[in-house]
Amino acid sequence: MAMPRLAQTGIIACDDNLRFMEGLPDACCDLIYADPPFGTGKRQTGRDPTQQYADVWPGGIDGYLEFLSPRLEHFRRLLKTTGTLYLHLDWHTVHYVKVYLDKLFGYENMLNEIIWSYRTGGLSTRWFARKHDTILVYARQAGRHRFNLLREGSFRTDGMNVDEDGRPYKNTRAGRLYFNPDGPAITDVWEIPFLSTVSLERTGYPTQKPEALLERIIRASSNPGDVVADFFCGSGTTLAVAQRLGRRWIGCDISAEAVDIARHRLARLQGGKYDPQTVRGQDG
Ligand SMILES: C[S@@+](CC[C@H](N)C(=O)[O-])C[C@H]1O[C@@H](n2cnc3c(N)ncnc32)[C@H](O)[C@@H]1O
Repeated sequence: MAMPRLAQTGIIACDDNLRFMEGLPDACCDLIYADPPFGTGKRQTGRDPTQQYADVWPGGIDGYLEFLSPRLEHFRRLLKTTGTLYLHLDWHTVHYVKVYLDKLFGYENMLNEIIWSYRTGGLSTRWFARKHDTILVYARQAGRHRFNLLREGSFRTDGMNVDEDGRPYKNTRAGRLYFNPDGPAITDVWEIPFLSTVSLERTGYPTQKPEALLERIIRASSNPGDVVADFFCGSGTTLAVAQRLGRRWIGCDISAEAVDIARHRLARLQGGKYDPQTVRGQDG
């Protein structure tokens, strides 16, 4: 397949992402976010039982790695030297995949292990409730990678000195230390609520991620006009946020139901005036 032309917005492919990525040229993405099946050994079903995907791996972890590893190799190939990969997993496979990515990208190119902490869902009485996912972040080339520092919240300044303009500060040997008015820099532990059952964002697609999570990733590791890709795009969360933030985007999912939901979501974002270009795979 020839490289689809990315005009001002983006495209969605309904295809096996391995086959789709094979047709893309090297270094065409600024940011790749990937939220593959986690290796749970279960079939993931959404609100509508026709919306589902299999997360079952004959051969266990070896079978899972056999599936994921050629796709990770493409991710690296597709990133620009300034680009970054965010790979979203959980306790089932993340430690195995981390070892693989350290070899593929180089240990020195790992930037972060982000803990996404949430509180929704059931609570186990047999072990500590599992309430976080892990997002591994690798630069194609650390040092050259794009990174916009994000800030959130406010500093605790009660009881501090206040200057003539009412700004709180700390006295240090080097003089007055002022606090950034935009708050502290965001750390690698992210408290972002999971989508509630009544959230307006919900499409009904299984394992849909919150837009707030993607917004943080896209703002931190891309600039307006950059190309953001998600080759396991599901309901199109990454694409919708990229569109809203003025990035170009490439999406792919093997499920026709997922691609349909994503297309409608993107069309709705533009008041129904825009129908994203959709590429169908050979069997699609
Ligand atoms: C965890 S879900 C992604 C959810 C998405 N982040 C969202 O917010 O809706 C994983 C997706 O990977 C897709 N998938 C699994 N194997 C694939 C493959 N070989 N090629 C493309 N997509 C695949 C599934 O259909 C599923 O939609």
